[in-house]
Amino acid sequence: MTAQPTLTTERLLLRPYTEADAPDVQRLAGEREIAATTIRIPHPYPDGAAEEWISGHPRAFESRESVVFAVTLRDGGALAGGIGLDLSPAHHCGELGYWIAVPYWKRGLATEASRAVIDYGFRDLDLHRIEAHCFISNPASGRVLEKVGMTAEGELRERVLKWGDYETLRYYSILHNEWSP
Ligand SMILES: CC(C)(COP(=O)(O)OP(=O)(O)OC[C@H]1O[C@@H](n2cnc3c(N)ncnc32)[C@H](O)[C@@H]1OP(=O)(O)O)[C@@H](O)C(=O)NCCC(=O)NCCS
Repeated sequence: MTAQPTLTTERLLLRPYTEADAPDVQRLAGEREIAATTIRIPHPYPDGAAEEWISGHPRAFESRESVVFAVTLRDGGALAGGIGLDLSPAHHCGELGYWIAVPYWKRGLATEASRAVIDYGFRDLDLHRIEAHCFISNPASGRVLEKVGMTAEGELRERVLKWGDYETLRYYSILHNEWSP
């Protein structure tokens, strides 16, 4: 089985997380703004949770459950976020998810990282479909998904209870034959 690769873009290096990233993950993903529009990122981010999360990545990759990349800057190597695909191998489908640390917002990094991971999914993981969803109250994420060429498919009304409010999810997808690298 091939090892998880490192993906290089104009400004980014997408690589597997290492244990040494855990303090940065806890600090950056632990910002309230990151948890506010995501379903699974805890806030406050508990001690030890980043270490435990990172330690599960190699096995999840080997079993084709998921592939997770640290988003790092080529210039200086700083951790700027995370991105990954949850995989459904039987259906050749992957679900894209990402976060970018607050100081790096609005520079096109989520879009750049997403393009690289979608390309990897179609090219190397033989995916047929890549999907994603976001809260409709998160227009920045919806915009990222539009910019990478995904089609909005519909909404699940008030599907998620987030901090006392029901959030509507908008679903997006792109098929292999719609992807132009
Ligand atoms: C969503 C998120 C990943 C975007 O990251 P980013 O690197 O800033 O995204 P990009 O710069 O690639 O693109 C953002 C786009 O949204 C637009 N945007 C940002 N805030 C916006 C807002 N409040 N309303 C409308 N558009 C907005 C930007 O202008 C940009 O579009 P443009 O290039 O057409 O101008 C980042 O805000 C984040 O990590 N949020 C918290 C976690 C999260 O929501 N993850 C996704 C869960 S589905």
